[in-house]
Amino acid sequence: MAFGVISEIGYVSLQSKDIEGTIAHGRDILGLTETHRSGNAVYLSSRARRHHELVYLDAPENGVGHIGLVAAGKAGLDLARTRIVDAGYPILSNTPLHPGVADGFAFIGPEGFVFEIYIGLEPVGITPTGHAPDRFGHVNLHPQHLHAMLTFFTDVLDFRVSDVIGDDFAYFLRCNAEHHGVALIKGKGWMHHHAWQVQSIADLGKLGDRLHDAGSRLLMGPVRHGAGHNMAAYYVEPTGAVVELYTDMEWILDDDRPPIVWPQDDRAWATKWSIYDFSEFRSHGLFPAREHIAAN
Ligand SMILES: [Fe+2]
Repeated sequence: MAFGVISEIGYVSLQSKDIEGTIAHGRDILGLTETHRSGNAVYLSSRARRHHELVYLDAPENGVGHIGLVAAGKAGLDLARTRIVDAGYPILSNTPLHPGVADGFAFIGPEGFVFEIYIGLEPVGITPTGHAPDRFGHVNLHPQHLHAMLTFFTDVLDFRVSDVIGDDFAYFLRCNAEHHGVALIKGKGWMHHHAWQVQSIADLGKLGDRLHDAGSRLLMGPVRHGAGHNMAAYYVEPTGAVVELYTDMEWILDDDRPPIVWPQDDRAWATKWSIYDFSEFRSHGLFPAREHIAAN
C-alpha cells in the first residue's frame, strides 16, 4: 500500500543509562515483550510479534539511537540508498544495525537523527502481555529547521503531507494509508514521542490505571486530536522520551487527498474536547544521542 520508497515506520532505538529500569517500564507500563537480548541491546515487540519495534541500548547517556523505516521491498531499499548517497547524508553502516533483519543501511540524517532503512524483519513467536499495544505507529519529531526536515521526508523518502498546522508550524506525514507515520512540529531539535496503536479508548484508561498503580501519572489525555483524528494518552518513560498510546487514527485511502490546513490558533488541531496548556507537554523530549552507540 506504500506509494514511495518507505512502506511503514519500523522501530525506534533509545539509549538508556538505566537499561534494566527502562526495560521493566517498557514491559510493565507499555506492555512490550522482550524478544531478544545480545550484548548491550535489548529488543522488544508488541502484539505485532516482530523481532524488534523498540530497542533499548545500554549507554552512559539517554538519547535517541535510531529511527527505523521499512523500505518498500528490495526496489524501495535500493532506490532509497541511492537517493541518500546522492543527497550526501553520511552513511553509518552499509549493513543492518540489528539482528533479525535481511538487508538495510543506516545514515545520519537532518539534525543528527540516525535513520536505518531496511527490509525483511523477522517475525517472533512471543506471547504478548495482556496489555500489549497492537503495533508501533509513529514518531513525533521537533526539528529546529522544520522545512529542511520536511523536505527530507517528502522529497527524499516520498512521504506525503496529510495535515498542515499554521504557517510552517507543523506537518503530519504519511508513507502509507495511516494518517501519519511521522509528525514534525517546530521545536528544540529532539524527538518528542514514539507512539503505539491500541485497540480502543479503554486501553488509554487502563494505561492511566497502570501508571497510577506504579506511583506515576499520565502526562496528557485522553484527548481527541483534530489532525489525525486519533484519541491518545501520553506519559514520560525513564529515558525522558514521551510515549503515546493511540486509537481510531484516520486512514487515508485516497492517495490524492489534499492536505487539511489548520490555523495554528485553532486548538482543535491538537485537542478537540478541551483546552490544554501545552507548556509541560512540550517540555519533555529526547535529543539524538551525542555519541552513537552501536549494538554489539
Ligand atoms: Fe503522536
